[in-house]
Amino acid sequence: MKKLLSTVACGIVAMTMGQAAFADPDMSAKLVIDGTEIPTHAKGQPGGPLDELYSGWLFRSAETRALQLDDFDNPAFVFVEDAEAMFDKVEGSEGKSCSSCHEVGDFKGLRPVLPRWNEAKGKLYSMENYINDCRTERMGAEKWKWSKPKMTSMVALISLQSRGMPINVATDGPVADIYKQGKELYYTRVGQLDMACSNCHEDNYGNMIRADHLSQGQINGFPTYRLKNAKLNSIHARFKGCMKNIRAQPYGQGSPEFQALELYVASRGNGLSVEAPSVRN
Ligand code: HEC
Ligand code: HEC
Repeated sequence: MKKLLSTVACGIVAMTMGQAAFADPDMSAKLVIDGTEIPTHAKGQPGGPLDELYSGWLFRSAETRALQLDDFDNPAFVFVEDAEAMFDKVEGSEGKSCSSCHEVGDFKGLRPVLPRWNEAKGKLYSMENYINDCRTERMGAEKWKWSKPKMTSMVALISLQSRGMPINVATDGPVADIYKQGKELYYTRVGQLDMACSNCHEDNYGNMIRADHLSQGQINGFPTYRLKNAKLNSIHARFKGCMKNIRAQPYGQGSPEFQALELYVASRGNGLSVEAPSVRN
């Protein structure tokens, strides 16, 4: 316990003292992919927690940022190609593939509005829920696990169709209570380190924590390829990682808690551009 507390103390010191030892993130860097600029700044929502919204891309090193500037260099595109092949693959008892019913380009505009209320199901839907409904109810195929490669690859392919479009998630109407729950989760201190998401991603973005610049913890770039684990990472897997880092018991991936948190985090980034699939360290 003593050891743990001293690790905690070191972490906090690194966070507050780090600025002097490391360069500030380059907030004027431009994200131009194949000649198209994707804005990485946006105005915060009136009355929202952040005056200015910044993509997590800005907070990464020049080398990591460079990997996202060209789809050829972006290691996430190997998984996007896998998903393109899966999209045409017949699976399940109904003898259908995704492309029996969909053109992938028709999903343009979907990423920015998710998660959202599904009236027929009476619950909040993330992209993963829609994909699994089609697999089980329309293809007679097995569900995919929330954060396993097949799912994250398909989510990347579908999200890519909306690249450059502003996030525009609804927070009122039938999702109003879930939004409130997500917001509460975001500002509640948890875990042995007794920290809330906001303590790092609102109070300290731009500052260093260990060897990392803290970002605002936005999700416009998800799924994201991490150099650390060399695969695509889902939004919920990232939430889990952050909860583990503060020694809190993470909620399940696909759980109502993480979906509520996803809704809050997405909406707090309303106005930022879809950047999926992004690259992070
Ligand atoms: C038998 C036809 C069929 C197959 C096969 C199918 N889907 Fe669907 N899909 C639908 C229908 C119908 C909807 C609901 C459309 C609506 O309600 O607007 C839908 C909805 C979706 C949505 C939500 C779209 C939106 O705008 O709300 C996604 C994402 C999706 N499908 C992905 C997939 C993927 C990925 C596959 C393959 C793994 C797949 N679908 C296979 C028919 C199909
Ligand atoms: C102790 C500080 C800390 C806390 C508390 C924390 N995180 Fe993080 N988080 C990090 C670090 C470090 C990273 C990696 C660098 C970055 O993007 O900030 C990160 C990254 C993220 C990212 C990825 C951002 C991107 O652009 O790739 C998201 C999303 C995120 N956190 C959400 C959360 C949520 C939700 C919570 C609360 C459950 C939370 N974090 C709590 C430290 C923290």
